[in-house]
Amino acid sequence: MSLPPFERWNRIAQALHWLIALLIVGMGVLGLTMTQMDPSMAKLKVYALHKSIGLTVLALVAARLLWRLAHRAPPPLAMPRWQRRSAQAMHAVLYLLIAAMPLSGWLYNSTANFPLQWFGWLQVPSLWHADPQLKHYAHTFHETAFWLLMALVALHAAAALKHHFVDRDATLARMLPGLPPPAGDAP
Ligand code: HEM
Ligand code: HEM
Repeated sequence: MSLPPFERWNRIAQALHWLIALLIVGMGVLGLTMTQMDPSMAKLKVYALHKSIGLTVLALVAARLLWRLAHRAPPPLAMPRWQRRSAQAMHAVLYLLIAAMPLSGWLYNSTANFPLQWFGWLQVPSLWHADPQLKHYAHTFHETAFWLLMALVALHAAAALKHHFVDRDATLARMLPGLPPPAGDAP
């Protein structure tokens, strides 16, 4: 039996999904590595790079949310209602966290009273004045939210792989460019 026809996510949605996913994971590795470096000029440069790429991620997330609000998603595939509902809830939390990561970093930098530049080129304003207490909260949030995000991304990716290899539906194929839907032996 062949799979029913399905609609792919549009190229812009696919590109933004995978670009942001790669940048978020890369930024996490960069963040965790740079905090372990001994004080040096190189460390300062890596911190500046982390912040600039992070602000770029914030702009990409804003573009993605605007794009998403202005376009309709492909129609949902056939699956139990609880799965559709949990996927929607998961996607909403993922959107929140990918916006909260750069925002909390920016807030941390602002409350630490550090100047901020985008790739040494554009002066970025502070979100808030110097505030040691808020700085502490922003830092704790930045670190904790990252691990929460990674745990949810692992679940999200596992669900996508389960749809592809176990349920053999087009969930992953409609988001991953070039991936054909599973061979047509769906139940
Ligand atoms: C940092 C990593 C990731 C983040 C933040 C993320 C976030 C998201 C979000 C927010 C959506 C909802 C799209 C929308 O409704 O507008 C989505 C969809 C999707 N993601 Fe991810 N994702 C990540 C990584 C992955 C990985 C590694 C996989 C696969 C192995 C994956 C597979 C999918 C699929 C298949 C969809 C489409 C679901 C559908 O059509 O209902 N994602 N992702
Ligand atoms: C995609 C967005 C981002 C991700 C995924 C991310 C992730 C991380 C992670 C995992 C750490 C290590 C946490 C720790 O051990 O303290 C970190 C540290 C840090 N991040 Fe981010 N970050 C992002 C954006 C930003 C932005 C936009 C800024 C500032 C404008 C920023 C500023 C910082 C600073 C200053 C630290 C070092 C904290 C310390 O020295 O302990 N981050 N980030």
